[in-house]
Amino acid sequence: MRIAVVHGPNLNLLGVREPEIYGAATLGDVNRALADLAAELGAEVEPFQSNSEGRILDFLADVRDRADGMLVNPAGLGHTSVALLDGLLAISRPFVEVHLSNPAARESFRRQSLLTPAAVGVVAGFGMDSYLSGFRCLHNHLLRADAEHR
Ligand code: DQA
Repeated sequence: MRIAVVHGPNLNLLGVREPEIYGAATLGDVNRALADLAAELGAEVEPFQSNSEGRILDFLADVRDRADGMLVNPAGLGHTSVALLDGLLAISRPFVEVHLSNPAARESFRRQSLLTPAAVGVVAGFGMDSYLSGFRCLHNHLLRADAEHR
């Protein structure tokens, strides 16, 4: 089983970006922790980060054939991007939305995510653990879906 991980704009700056909100872990730390968890679960992980919406959409189209599901931190794009929602719908792969912070507890413009209605679920507010929990939940979801199709 392969899970692709999309990190949206500005997440390349994790560790230096508003650490009081997003924590001290870098993007490398997050990706390493996901790789360790994937190995423990016998799964594969393919991380991708871009600050460009177009590059993220190109990645989704490209990874479609090799990913069973997606873990997505859309960052600011979650609040604004119909194109990202459409890109995720277009590839027909289950996805879990994750956020390091809890957007619902922050400014009002962060309270809406365009992706949430299409997500299997959302994990937010736990820093790096949001990614790790989201990965476990998605992995279980995919195993269940696989068993149901046999
Ligand atoms: C974020 C929350 C978003 O509101 C924000 O724009 C981000 C990061 C998070 O992980 O907490 O860039 O997705």
